[in-house]
Amino acid sequence: MADKKKKVSADDSNPLGTLANLWPYMWPSDRLDLKMRVVWATVFLILSKFILILVPYFFKWATDALNGKLDMAGLLPAFLLGAVALVILYNFTRIAQVGLNQLRDALFASVGQYAVRQLAYRTFVHMHQLSLRFHLERKTGGLSRIIERGTKGIETIVRFTILNSVPTLIEFLLTAGIFWWSYGFSYLAVTAFTVWAYIWFTIRASDWRIGIRRAMNDSDTDANTKAIDSLLNFETVKYFGNEEMEARRFDQSMARYEKSATEVWTSLGWLNFGQGVIFGIGTAVVMVMSALAVQRGEQTIGDFVFVNAMLMQLSFPLNFIGFVYREIRQGLTDIEQMFELLEVEAEVLDKPDAVTLAIGQGAIAFKDVHFSYDPQRPILKGISFEVPAGKTVAVVGPSGAGKSTISRLLYRFYDIQQGSITIDGQDVRNVTQKSLRSAIGMVPQDTVLFNDTIAYNIRYGRPAASDAEIEQAAEVAQIGRFITELPDGFQTKVGERGLKLSGGEKQRVAIARTVLKAPPILILDEATSALDTTTEQEIQAALDVVSKNRTTLVIAHRLSTVVDADEIIVLKGGEISERGTHSELLAKGGLYASMWNRQREATQAEEHLRQVRESDELGVVVRKAPAT
Ligand SMILES: Nc1ncnc2c1ncn2[C@@H]1O[C@H](COP(=O)(O)OP(=O)(O)O)[C@@H](O)[C@H]1O
Ligand SMILES: [Mg+2]
Repeated sequence: MADKKKKVSADDSNPLGTLANLWPYMWPSDRLDLKMRVVWATVFLILSKFILILVPYFFKWATDALNGKLDMAGLLPAFLLGAVALVILYNFTRIAQVGLNQLRDALFASVGQYAVRQLAYRTFVHMHQLSLRFHLERKTGGLSRIIERGTKGIETIVRFTILNSVPTLIEFLLTAGIFWWSYGFSYLAVTAFTVWAYIWFTIRASDWRIGIRRAMNDSDTDANTKAIDSLLNFETVKYFGNEEMEARRFDQSMARYEKSATEVWTSLGWLNFGQGVIFGIGTAVVMVMSALAVQRGEQTIGDFVFVNAMLMQLSFPLNFIGFVYREIRQGLTDIEQMFELLEVEAEVLDKPDAVTLAIGQGAIAFKDVHFSYDPQRPILKGISFEVPAGKTVAVVGPSGAGKSTISRLLYRFYDIQQGSITIDGQDVRNVTQKSLRSAIGMVPQDTVLFNDTIAYNIRYGRPAASDAEIEQAAEVAQIGRFITELPDGFQTKVGERGLKLSGGEKQRVAIARTVLKAPPILILDEATSALDTTTEQEIQAALDVVSKNRTTLVIAHRLSTVVDADEIIVLKGGEISERGTHSELLAKGGLYASMWNRQREATQAEEHLRQVRESDELGVVVRKAPAT
């Protein structure tokens, strides 16, 4: 069963669904204070719209008063009827309206930011719950970009749906009502038609632009993934002198980005122009109607000014609604991808009734285990073996035989198709992943360290450990002396992925953190095979100390490291081809024996070469000596 990915394309995307997903974050059930802020923001919003409608009225009255045509007896108190008082009121209402808007925005800011934080947190936690398979298939650079854009998108949505779309709707309804009531149905009809045409055009044009925007996002993600991958492989690029090829690849992605980003801007120009034309025509019609009415003596100049002021006022949020619609759609596109990630189901899940692993000595048993990553290609075909408590079992075999797969299965990164894997008699599928994984310590072939200090990386094995315990663990892993001799000691930074340490040093840091974790079960997956023979011998000594009295599964390519194992299992083609102790297997004269002989010859050749090189160096000194 693979991780389920719900594929959302431009056509079947569901903005309402995405908004519904977002709602619990904007109206958080456990945060009364935030809900109160939402309520107050709404109150201020409605209040500000009513005040906004007063603005053109004061303008009209002031105009009429200046004209000597103000006929308002009874509507306003007498002292307000002077032109100067009306002009002051006109400006005062404008100020009050701006003030209320800012109050509303400020109240809502914390609600929006809370939503951003909650969702970013949930996505991050979810990323860690997803299976190894998902992460192997996914590109980390692209993932982090999706999360980054998604959280920005939430801010956009929260701001624009609540702070702009709803207010604009209210304002339009008020304007339309006043036009109808004061000047008749024709004014309402023209205004409503203009606004409808404006919105229709905006939505059509914006939808067209969303496809372009997606192409831009995709090429942006692509360029970012390539750049990160290329920089992570910095050394490899240098080994092969392929800087130019890398730069070309990156530039090709950026060229795609350049093209689609340019299209995004030119299409924006068309959209803005079209909006201007539609609203301009609508305003012209209404103003001509009003001008004719003034000429006929049916309206005052104040009315003419009022109609224009109302329409101008409506044009501001409408101008915005184009922008808002675009932003909301774009925000939704970005959030949609993030929710898509949240919808990916983890492949390996705890059972509802999963219990904590009751770990004693940590005896491991594989019974008739069948497993494949891909149904087409079985990797393990019925493997059975046991690692008795406190004993050491080695798994050897050619590369690709499925050795590391065994360790991943014990960790339950994947579920097996048939058979069972138990620890102290408990099936790994019946216990919580957390308790299972806390019982096992792993020293992999290629240790990757966090870009922090040595102390941080060792403490990772048990975050609560004291400094003294860390030093002790380093001592056990035989790296204590090396660290204390460093200028910065335990506070030395290890560099990205630990690249500032040599392979052997990194490996010993990994051993130290496993020592600190002190798990009952230990897996050494080719822990020393990336190292030279001398370093291997040093580390082997550290590993021998650590694995003493622990149930240990050693996966090894180099057989010299497994001669002491209680049992050696030879894996070939997904099946166990031989098993026994070192001497039994040698006596058998099978695959193990031939591997052993081949490796011994290789080691001897290596040894011989070293001796030759050493004597050669001596030779240089000797030859040079007479000349001086
Ligand atoms: N995530 C994966 N998806 C598909 N195939 C995989 C995956 N991981 C490993 N394999 C394949 O499974 C086989 C066994 O891999 P592994 O257990 O790592 O071998 P090894 O014995 O060298 O440790 C290999 O042929 C490898 O290509
Ligand atoms: Mg392996």
